[in-house]
Amino acid sequence: MSHYKLPLLKYFKAKRGEKSTALIILKNDRGMQVAFTNFGARIVSLIIPDKFGNPTDVVLGFNSISEYFEADEIYHGATIGRFANRIKGGAFQLNGKTYHIEPNNGPNALHGGRNGFHNQIWDRRLHNPNGITFYYSSPDDEEGFPGTLNTSVDYLITDDNELKISYRARSDQDTFINLTNHAYFNLNGEGSGEVLDHTMQINANEYVPINEHQIPLGKLLPLAATSFDFRQPKVLAAHIHDQDQQLLYAGGGYDHTYVLHKQTGTQEPTLAAVAYAAHSGIKLEVLTTEPGVQFYTGNALSGKDKGKSGKVYGKQHAFCLETQHFPDTPNQTTFPSALLKAGEIYNSQTIYRFNVIK
Ligand code: BGC
Repeated sequence: MSHYKLPLLKYFKAKRGEKSTALIILKNDRGMQVAFTNFGARIVSLIIPDKFGNPTDVVLGFNSISEYFEADEIYHGATIGRFANRIKGGAFQLNGKTYHIEPNNGPNALHGGRNGFHNQIWDRRLHNPNGITFYYSSPDDEEGFPGTLNTSVDYLITDDNELKISYRARSDQDTFINLTNHAYFNLNGEGSGEVLDHTMQINANEYVPINEHQIPLGKLLPLAATSFDFRQPKVLAAHIHDQDQQLLYAGGGYDHTYVLHKQTGTQEPTLAAVAYAAHSGIKLEVLTTEPGVQFYTGNALSGKDKGKSGKVYGKQHAFCLETQHFPDTPNQTTFPSALLKAGEIYNSQTIYRFNVIK
């Protein structure tokens, strides 16, 4: 039925030191197909039938591992760690000691540093036709973080067209951790241009305002009557070009953490955001156990990369909904803590659920 081409396995085979890369494909019975690579434990493609039944790849990415090696700073589909988002000056204190991560984003450390989890080759185990687990043991002091951190990322595809992601980690020293996934979504299909016709709804009343280096100001602001208000579904084009200082600091678009409503006492993922593209009819719901979601409209996609269907990825050709703790939490005492105590288990879950509205 479908002439849709999945990335070819052979173009994902490469060696880096002792480790080798591969492409792994999971499918369900409803036409959902997700391809992963162990380079950065990342999502390479995510195919969903649209309202006409056409297989549609809703994440940006490349057809070969060498393109991922080269376009590294974009973090396409990758697992981000040890600390997603920015740490001011790349420095924080823990138990009376100062730790340094080399800045890789202006004066700040972004997404765990240059050799963060996105840039590591993970081990893997396919445990059934619908699930795969990636493992990585990050040595003590890697990128400057304390403790040996054993991490796993579990991806599961369900018959309800969900991709369930479970993160687990354990450290032998106290450390800070904030893991997320950096998939860039375009619900009309990767390579189909801007996402400004998508509608977005985010289950939050407040967001985290930032300074000119995208570091939190340390307070939360209400969304009501601002360009940031997605409490009801709203088309992205409505306010993205407003001359608002917060949008300008983020490169002329959204790149902010929304403070999610948390039902206290539940460890189950709850609804964080809903995105919808009328053209394809594809709707994405994001559920998470995390206290925040970074809503990013691909403001830094520069047009220099060509993606899977040969089309250029330009500014705002995708959006990310990165479930996580708030930016710079190690230096921000009022934010929910991202401390992982020695020997304790870090647990975080996120679900990407797809539906089609005909
Ligand atoms: C950040 C952006 C950054 C991008 C890099 C996002 O998670 O919020 O500020 O430019 O990652 O791809």
